[in-house]
Amino acid sequence: MPSMDPAGSKDSNGGPKADFFARKQRIAQQRKSLPIASVEKRLMDEVRSHDILIIVGETGSGKTTQLPQYLFNAGFCRDGKIIGITQPRRVAAVSVAKRVAEECGVEMGQRVGYSIRFDDMTSSSTRIKYMTDGLLLREALLDKYLSKYSVIIVDEAHERTVDTDVLLGILKSVQKARSGPINQLPNIDHTKAKNGVVIDKENDSQRAGSLNRYQGLKLSPLKLIIMSASLDARGFFEYFGGARAVHVQGRQFPVDIFYTKAPETDYLDATLITIFQIHLEEGAGDVLVFLTGQEEIESVERLVLEKLKQLPEEKRKLKVLPIYSSLPSEKQMQVFMPAPIGFRKVILATNIAETSVTIPGIKYVIDPGLVKARTYSAHTGMESLVVVPTSKAQALQRSGRAGREGPGKCFRLYPEREFEKLSDSTVPEIKRCNLSKVVLQLKALGVDDIIGFDFMEKPLREAVIKSLELLALLGALTEESRLSKPVGHQMARLPLDPTHAKALILASQFNCLEEMLITVAMLSVESIFYVPREKLEEVAVDNLFQMHVACVLAAVRFYIKCARTAAKCFSSLEGDHVTLINVYRASDDLFEKSKIGNNREKAEKDMRKWCKENFINSRSVRQARDIHRQATSSFLGLKPKYDWQIRENVEQMGLHVASCGDDMLQFRRCLAAAFFLNAALKQPDGTYRVLSSGQSVQIHPSSVLFRTKPDCLIFDELVRTNHNYIRNVSRVDYLWLPELAPQYYTLKE
Ligand code: CDP
Ligand code: MG
Repeated sequence: MPSMDPAGSKDSNGGPKADFFARKQRIAQQRKSLPIASVEKRLMDEVRSHDILIIVGETGSGKTTQLPQYLFNAGFCRDGKIIGITQPRRVAAVSVAKRVAEECGVEMGQRVGYSIRFDDMTSSSTRIKYMTDGLLLREALLDKYLSKYSVIIVDEAHERTVDTDVLLGILKSVQKARSGPINQLPNIDHTKAKNGVVIDKENDSQRAGSLNRYQGLKLSPLKLIIMSASLDARGFFEYFGGARAVHVQGRQFPVDIFYTKAPETDYLDATLITIFQIHLEEGAGDVLVFLTGQEEIESVERLVLEKLKQLPEEKRKLKVLPIYSSLPSEKQMQVFMPAPIGFRKVILATNIAETSVTIPGIKYVIDPGLVKARTYSAHTGMESLVVVPTSKAQALQRSGRAGREGPGKCFRLYPEREFEKLSDSTVPEIKRCNLSKVVLQLKALGVDDIIGFDFMEKPLREAVIKSLELLALLGALTEESRLSKPVGHQMARLPLDPTHAKALILASQFNCLEEMLITVAMLSVESIFYVPREKLEEVAVDNLFQMHVACVLAAVRFYIKCARTAAKCFSSLEGDHVTLINVYRASDDLFEKSKIGNNREKAEKDMRKWCKENFINSRSVRQARDIHRQATSSFLGLKPKYDWQIRENVEQMGLHVASCGDDMLQFRRCLAAAFFLNAALKQPDGTYRVLSSGQSVQIHPSSVLFRTKPDCLIFDELVRTNHNYIRNVSRVDYLWLPELAPQYYTLKE
């Protein structure tokens, strides 16, 4: 097991310095023993002699953490150039950057940094930059040639997220453009970019000036490295015209696979039983459990802890650690630490632990065989997240996690015959998602013919058409299907979903941009209220699982009741959007009060206490505040961390930031004008019908309107679990729709 044991790091002097050196030494040893270390020289030679390289290697062989360091040492950052590494997931970008900063012995944000939406930890000295693939796409909007990068590594390419696929297409053309003299003007003049925002458009004479600036200039070539954990790299190989491919041999010990005899009616229950079977009957080694999402992880965590209490003292040595995207990063880092001596670790993870992060010490894997995936219906235009069976490739990756450091065991919670029925690999996300954001981005990058774009795999034609329709309805496109001025350009500049971006633009006309900024910030973070209050209500109705956990549920129900009472003081009958504003403003008041004493610790403490009392997720509120850029961090004397604040964005665009005060009618009218495609009407049976698609939906139990049920409403998102649930809903007047969205509704309808 890679030893990261802080307990074992004291030498005879025992001081912190000795700790530090011992740890440094161990890290150096670990680095040397990684499979990739033996091919460092060969890899650097390959990168020097090929512009595109595909690297395929087992998860855990050291690709993500080591390759950028090798490139740095090999001189690829000369002249201040940067090595960029993209990840499909935010957690991976952050956790790997932290690890690499530690390996290099530098402070985060110095030589090594990361940048993800709403969180930028880089500086002018950053040379190794981890980021999400979506973030690099946004950078391409500001600098068409991505000129500050010498090497771009697209990591986890096998995941085939929609951003990865779009990025591959863009990078292919950037690379081509950078290999010849520049004779074409970038669409967007990045020389005017300030704080990540292009301030204004050029006039003709300015355009001529920038053409002169670029004309004939030769940029240094861009090296592209595509990394994948899947052995089947044929797709990338063909897409990049027979590029050079290198395999990094990993170490894999045998893993015994166990199946259940019959399908499990309740996989969470089966998971719980399996965790305790391993804990009580199997030898030492940590357990990795694959679950579908945060809420599921949280309830399994509670159940394990509850069940542990029933065991005799000496059998309780089990440490449960969750890992999912929105977990605070200090907590994420805990999964990489060894369990206390004598304890066994159980890690409850989403599919992030499949290939994105490697957790040391795993010997047992529990795989219920499910994953939460995006699906999209071009027919209804609705996107939703649903739980579906994994592919065979995913099942193999998951079981592989048990055999990294020695022989392991994998418990698949389904019968063997089911495995045979699984599809070989996952369908790329671009084939099953709403493309409006992508289309908007591509248009902003100057790609007008979306269907003709060089995608690795073409999206469905109907989906492209549907998203063009949606963007046109939102006013982002002209009749020739180009980005409209100013709306289309403004929407593309905001790092938001197109509807949210449009809501901000409209809000400046409705004089409620102050309120809409808060709303969009609050909608951009994970649940503001603690999860259980809605989740368990749902479980109680829909799930057999409750039979086994009735006691726990009773306790939690009481808790939910308290949470409901607490949440009531923010509730607004106008809907969830106004409720979110109320929560935000209440947190503001609290900050203003704490500010008087200018005591940072006290302010933090008061905030945590207040959140706890009100069943509010303090991290979410803090994050929303940062996105909105209230002065929390600067007031607290911290370095402002977030670089993509939407408030700054809209101010620089020249939008009018005003408040509608108590006139929430104005605010709701603005919501109706922006979310008109998400309008739904109440049916006699209390369900709702979405006007644009005809779909039947229900208000999610977490909504403040769950019981009141207004006649007509708009919603923010549709989630499909056992029902089609709409979340974050607000009451609107039916007659506003033809008035505010005449491009879509006529009065007759
Ligand atoms: O990218 P790949 O899957 O090939 O491997 P990696 O992410 O570079 O991980 C290499 C090694 O670093 C693994 O043995 C991990 O256990 C270790 N690592 C770690 O201990 N802590 C982290 N935060 C990240 C990686
Ligand atoms: Mg990796």
